[in-house]
Amino acid sequence: MESAFTAVTPVVLLPMPGAEALAAQLAGYLPASTLCAGVESRRFPDGESWLRVLGELRDAQVVIVGNLYQPDPQALSLLYLADYAREMGALRVGLVAPYLPYMRQDARFHPGEAITSRSFARFVSSAVDWLVTVDPHLHRYASLDEIYTISTRVVPAAPVMAAWIAAHVERPFVVGPDSESAQWAAEVARLAGCPHAVLEKQRHGDRDVEISLSHLTDTEGRTPVLIDDIISSARTMTVAVRMLRAAGLPPPVCIGVHALFAGDAAGVLAEAGAARVVTCNTVPHASNGIDVLPALASAILPLLR
Ligand code: R5P
Repeated sequence: MESAFTAVTPVVLLPMPGAEALAAQLAGYLPASTLCAGVESRRFPDGESWLRVLGELRDAQVVIVGNLYQPDPQALSLLYLADYAREMGALRVGLVAPYLPYMRQDARFHPGEAITSRSFARFVSSAVDWLVTVDPHLHRYASLDEIYTISTRVVPAAPVMAAWIAAHVERPFVVGPDSESAQWAAEVARLAGCPHAVLEKQRHGDRDVEISLSHLTDTEGRTPVLIDDIISSARTMTVAVRMLRAAGLPPPVCIGVHALFAGDAAGVLAEAGAARVVTCNTVPHASNGIDVLPALASAILPLLR
């Protein structure tokens, strides 16, 4: 990558277990002097973690690279690696997590529920000095600063999603399936230079959603492109695809930022009749077709100075 970046201290990427490929890919977009440390890991018979870092971290800017889409088994590795890096004399320790989990529980929707977004933010803020991520699910929080006490940088996926649409879809019409997707749908449509609409969704349960098409007009001769930040159970996308098809529109292209695809999600969405499902590579999945790593690398560089 072309960059005016001059490293005054060594930069070492430290992959969390399972993020080795991601760290290696990211290193390809960072200055050639960036090192990628090896991390060996295994579980003891009782399930506890064993980690061993192969690489010198003294006086280095350490960047922990994590795939946090299954946060519960992953999160403690973050703490262990960050603590190790500090004990070994790292100057600063940052975290690059292309998908930031636990952002959707941003309120106590029912009495007794834990607001896990806040607790997870406190946990990460206590472990590292800074965080870079791609489009976190900001709905009731205006920014990560409301819950994270460390420096944070958010990489927007809208520019790369819009470029993908411009290159692959003729006469697109961007559709956000619910009010939460409005921020992505509006920006992607603006960048792609096409119209957009935002539908209304009611969620009755994890896999039970209802969507109304009342805001959909002027779609004649256009290909609908559904945009959402997260595809988890894929019920939001699936119901939206079915509604658009039932309204006589052509098979929609579905674009998601974060491809969680829990359980039967991929199969259910495929059966609904989408023309194509494409996601950004923030979560490894067969649908990944939009590369956010160059933008992620650009966001990391200023934090290493
Ligand atoms: C929430 O509103 C998000 O923007 C997504 O629409 C939601 O997380 C998608 O979840 P699912 O795929 O389970 O319907």
